Amino acid sequence: MSFKKSPGTQDILPGSVEKWQFVEQKAREICSRYNFREIRTPIFESTELFQRGVGETTDIVEKEMYTFIDRGERSLTLRPEGTAGVVRSFVENKLFGEPDLTKLYYMGPMFRYERPQAGRYRQFHQFGIEAIGAADPALDAEVIALGYTFYTEVGLRGVGVEINSVGTPAVRGAFREKLLTYLEPKREILCKDCQSRIDRNPLRVLDCKVDQKHFTDAPSILDSLDEECQIHFDKVKQHLSDMEIPFEINHRLVRGLDYYTHTAFEFKAEGIGAIDTVGGGGRYNGLVADVGGPDQPGVGFGLGLERTVLLLEHQETAIPNLNELDVYLIALGEEADRQVTKLVYQLRKAGVKAERDYQGRKMKAQMKSADRLQARYTAILGDDELANGEITLKEMATGLQRKVSFSDLSHVIMESKLRS
Ligand code: HAM
Repeated sequence: MSFKKSPGTQDILPGSVEKWQFVEQKAREICSRYNFREIRTPIFESTELFQRGVGETTDIVEKEMYTFIDRGERSLTLRPEGTAGVVRSFVENKLFGEPDLTKLYYMGPMFRYERPQAGRYRQFHQFGIEAIGAADPALDAEVIALGYTFYTEVGLRGVGVEINSVGTPAVRGAFREKLLTYLEPKREILCKDCQSRIDRNPLRVLDCKVDQKHFTDAPSILDSLDEECQIHFDKVKQHLSDMEIPFEINHRLVRGLDYYTHTAFEFKAEGIGAIDTVGGGGRYNGLVADVGGPDQPGVGFGLGLERTVLLLEHQETAIPNLNELDVYLIALGEEADRQVTKLVYQLRKAGVKAERDYQGRKMKAQMKSADRLQARYTAILGDDELANGEITLKEMATGLQRKVSFSDLSHVIMESKLRS
């Protein structure tokens, strides 16, 4: 009997995992510059948290959650996104009691029962940030700036920012009525998805890819904003312009989660099949109170890591080789083999990335391994060298060889590593 991975899941193998490590390292480093600190929350939470947080009528809650009953009869759900869990933790751990703004980031797997395709999986990974405790539009701009910086610094080209204001619940309520009056006469000509969305969440109808041709004269939520929403939106745009972050206004941008207020935004890029959204987020001023906390505003984003890596591959972006070996040790003979076992241990202890052969292969085969592993040096130990307490160190790029004493070996390799 042989087993296959479940549909919509992936094995991230060596060769590809280096891209992930590079992207994750960049994310951490940028978060540290922006003073966001890491939070790790559970992979599963109570189902009710997502029903309340993400919203009962969203696709996620209606048809995409991995929900199960545990042995204690609790209904639990594998997290479909990160925000609800972070906000739950913020409330449960009373982080709101701290005088400073809470700025958090996370990376990890999320789960949604979606139809798998390029860039869409059932287990996928997000890099997300959440800033909770301030309503300042400068914070919305900072969150967008951090995401934009991330895409730029991992080396991606052509990632655009689209922004919109989805107003407050009151603004949306009034706009909803306007929209229903507009959509109702069109009901019969719209796709099945739109027809069911008209009743559940008419704002999302405007987002439909299939029916765009019918919506050319649709009302814009931006014409329905009240003064507070308008001022907030204007300030976010102003800050982005001041920072010279290019953005487009898309008044049809409605996110697939219910908690957004004011700013909603997405990062867009071509190159992953039919999918063009690589990340998204927005402000959620009611969410903390909705999950039982004090009335504190928040803003954040979630960026898909699979989509980031797919784009890196599509654009053939060069990433630093984090896996290059410093030295490959080759032993010729039994005594040499014993010495190499000790040397390789000492080298690794001293910070050198070292490898050796364990399959008793001939020198030629071992040299080929050193090549494949992109070792900077090979170190060859035969009988002569052994007798003198030395090893032959060969620089692979130049072919230059010299003898180095056992005691100097790690020092010589580390020195040349620091110089390069
Ligand atoms: P979201 O738009 O549902 O937002 O997801 C954010 C990103 O996660 C997407 O843009 C995409 O890159 C990635 N993603 C979502 N579903 C999949 C999937 N099935 N396969 C691969 N990638 C996927 C949120 O999750 C919000 N929590 C973002 C947020 C944080 N808003 C405020 N704070």
